[in-house]
Amino acid sequence: MAPRPVPNGKNTKSVFIKTYGCQMNVYDSERMADVLAPIGYAAVDTPDHADLVILNTCHIREKAAEKVYSELGRIRKHQKSNNPDMKVAVAGCVAQAEGAEIKRRAPVVDMVLGPQTYHRLPEMIAKVTRETGDVLETDFDTVEKFDALPAGRNAKGYSAFLTVQEGCDKFCTFCVVPYTRGAEVSRPVDQIVAEARSLASQGVREITLIGQNVDAYHADGPDGSQWGLGNLIRHLAKIGGIDRMRFTTSHPRDMDADLIETLATEPKLMPYLHLPVQAGSDRVLDAMNRGHTYAHYRDLIARIRAARPDIALSGDFIVGFPGETDQDFEDTMNCVREIGYASSFSFKYSVRPGTPGASLPRQVPEDVKSERLKRLQELLYMQQREWNESLIGKTLDVLVEGTARGDGQLFGRSPYLTGTHFDGPEELIGQIVPVTITSAGVNSLVGSIAKT
Ligand code: 5AD
Ligand code: SF4
Repeated sequence: MAPRPVPNGKNTKSVFIKTYGCQMNVYDSERMADVLAPIGYAAVDTPDHADLVILNTCHIREKAAEKVYSELGRIRKHQKSNNPDMKVAVAGCVAQAEGAEIKRRAPVVDMVLGPQTYHRLPEMIAKVTRETGDVLETDFDTVEKFDALPAGRNAKGYSAFLTVQEGCDKFCTFCVVPYTRGAEVSRPVDQIVAEARSLASQGVREITLIGQNVDAYHADGPDGSQWGLGNLIRHLAKIGGIDRMRFTTSHPRDMDADLIETLATEPKLMPYLHLPVQAGSDRVLDAMNRGHTYAHYRDLIARIRAARPDIALSGDFIVGFPGETDQDFEDTMNCVREIGYASSFSFKYSVRPGTPGASLPRQVPEDVKSERLKRLQELLYMQQREWNESLIGKTLDVLVEGTARGDGQLFGRSPYLTGTHFDGPEELIGQIVPVTITSAGVNSLVGSIAKT
């Protein structure tokens, strides 16, 4: 992270923020930096000599949560050898889920703050600096947080996330999110518009609207009617300078006809949709409390593809949910064969303490989960490669985000969100450039600037 200037010009202190997990944590980390800048904290990209280290954590799977504790061990060493006054904060979903337990396991931690309290970071810092006591802030007040955050954003780069909805009321039986992020809350339209304008005025050209259930978005529109995500997208697309829009993550229960229509008619909306199904078996979907069947999902996909035939479809999959039989797993494989994915995220079921799934009988053995994941990923990655290869010879508009690490080429994203590499001058960073695709791998494309 590049150091960012602070409004009063005095970078008296430094903060290192490490982000784990989803896009919402990426957004939250940027907002923490926005909250800290006015009190003199400049963001730095290593923890070595930082005055404040914040780990913005993820609790979604056990592995993600455990990473935090090993990082805290490393941080303690920096503190000992470089800066004994270094303050350490654990933020995000591990903080929310584990609270005071974190401090017990890792005494180096001074502050534990959940995802709905980071707007209060300045007072928390004052508290730990003044007193010797530690701080634990894990209240739930999403509305208060958004009201308290500065309207302006300190934009980084040309593509930005913007949280429009947070929390989840779905209670899938495997998932911690409803417990760590709280109930579904939508932000008011004017707050979102102000933030989008602030981003656009700083050169951001692509905005991804994010929410745990982004298509559950609903709020009073300026015309007095209830707005869903479709209305919001069409409204934001009118902001000058914003050329591309995306949204994530969708839920098969919440995608309404207006949103599908918006995919068909709003030219700034990119042809990419992340719509998790998790499993292909109705029995497993029911045990997961997903609230939809496979047939519902398949019909929805058919309607989406009718509206936007070139859509790149992405999904999340879990293998080895308790009680998943060989046949249930074959249903997931058949779902993938039938739907066809351009990108995907697939996981072994991870027991999360406190969720209903944790106490279900017939937990699937680890070796069975590994075997299923291997087979599923072979299929998904083959589809991903085929999708990417189908783009060879086509010219795609790539929003150039910067230079690629290692190969000295430019790096950007295609409309389908695929990372794309090509040779070109650095002046093109921030531009949307037509690139003719010459080769493709599982996760990325290579091309050259299209000849006019
Ligand atoms: N185990 C494995 N994967 C999970 N996910 C959520 N909870 C778990 C869990 N307990 C996956 C889901 C979700 C994605 C963000 O993470 O697929 O869509
Ligand atoms: Fe978790 Fe299900 Fe909510 Fe998604 S919809 S955040 S998987 S509980």
